[in-house]
Amino acid sequence: MGLPTDFAYDFIGKILITPEQIEKRVTQLGMEITEDYHDSEKLMLLGLLRGSVMFITDLMRHIHRPLTMDFMSVSSYSGSSTSGFVRIDHDHKASIEGWDVILIDDIIDTGLTVDTVSRLLLDRRPRSLKICALLDKPDRHKRNIHIDYCGFSIPDEFVVGYGLDIDEKGRNLPYIAAVDLNKYKA
Ligand code: IMP
Ligand code: MG
Repeated sequence: MGLPTDFAYDFIGKILITPEQIEKRVTQLGMEITEDYHDSEKLMLLGLLRGSVMFITDLMRHIHRPLTMDFMSVSSYSGSSTSGFVRIDHDHKASIEGWDVILIDDIIDTGLTVDTVSRLLLDRRPRSLKICALLDKPDRHKRNIHIDYCGFSIPDEFVVGYGLDIDEKGRNLPYIAAVDLNKYKA
């Protein structure tokens, strides 16, 4: 039986990370977080919609601590110059003041999103703030950010699956695959 490649998307290129590899790594990250937060009574996972949804719901099953979950939705714009900006489309609901917050995103590309959002969150006085991303493209960073929990580093390719999309398509794939841009029709 092999990997399910019959999802009827016609732009799937090479599979970079299999469901088994994802499951193994997400389990490890959950165990690491469990250990690091063993004395925290106020742990909050703060996910960025919508790409982090599949990751966060799997990850939380492996964090054996009391926790809460909230979400923010942001859009990032890069201008023609080096500066870009991030718009908050939907803010988190619960106060984070005094909480140990882990900001969770699907992928760090330039780093603009996570850098901007984490600065904003720090103004809201969490007890601590760490960054967790399933994927990282280190070659693309424009901001100097520290990722506390990183699933996988990948080369500079556009990827979909396990929550990540191209124009909202491909999120339901159980693996991470490169997009074959020759086959992709927007
Ligand atoms: P950054 O602000 O440049 O780090 O961009 C991060 C955001 O861009 C992520 O949260 C994703 O939504 C999106 N993104 C960047 N690279 C990819 C990719 O390869 N596939 C899907 N989305 C991506
Ligand atoms: Mg995103």
